[in-house]
Amino acid sequence: MVNAIQVIAIDGPSASGKGTVAQLVAEKLGFHYLDSGALYRIVALAAQQKNIAWDNAEALGELAKKLNINFKNGEIFLGNDRITELVRSEEISRGASEVAIHPQVRNALFDLQQSFRKAPGLVADGRDMGSVVFTDAKLKIFLTASVEVRAERRYKQPIGKNTIHKGLGANYAQILHDLQLRDTRDGQRRTSPLIQTPDAVLLDTSNRTIDEAVEFVLNEYNKKLHKNVLSH
Ligand code: DC
Repeated sequence: MVNAIQVIAIDGPSASGKGTVAQLVAEKLGFHYLDSGALYRIVALAAQQKNIAWDNAEALGELAKKLNINFKNGEIFLGNDRITELVRSEEISRGASEVAIHPQVRNALFDLQQSFRKAPGLVADGRDMGSVVFTDAKLKIFLTASVEVRAERRYKQPIGKNTIHKGLGANYAQILHDLQLRDTRDGQRRTSPLIQTPDAVLLDTSNRTIDEAVEFVLNEYNKKLHKNVLSH
């Protein structure tokens, strides 16, 4: 059955700026927003809290099915706990990339991700939004930037106000190294690796501002809508 609710899928590597761009595009269009990476981060954090190893695929799959996750006003809650900054630490970033290789975890999160598709539309960001979760997305963007540019952006980005945790001590070389490892793991895993599908439009933000990237996505979306009107 054709789902009439439009989706814009924005996939790309870590720290490419896709989250910021996706949120701004959603705001401009009045669409809902799904940060699918946050779900993998939450699984990694919840596993750590319950002493479940990030390579224990079966236990992680069971855990992922039962999570009580809430997104409210830009904040993330796990049960009653606010975990917005906790899930963004360098340690949990690595954990998210590790738990995401397991099909058990990906399957457990599939329906939850699809439940974000609500009128008037959805902007979803991640690694497999266009290739697996929303294959019928109206527009698919592959948003990337060179690994050096991404490391520099991550280095300059404060994790949160008054937050002290492991990620904050990281230096540029360490961040660059971690990003390279994550790129390899996310791009080479067997299940739903990060790939640019043939129907995705490439957006390299190495030399673009956030506003220019947002403008680009909105333009591409309008082109798709216009194309449909013309072909009817
Ligand atoms: O987008 P992010 O950096 O918050 O994602 C964190 C990790 O989650 C990333 O290293 C890989 C994984 N991920 C995934 O496998 N599939 C997605 N759709 C989103 C994220």
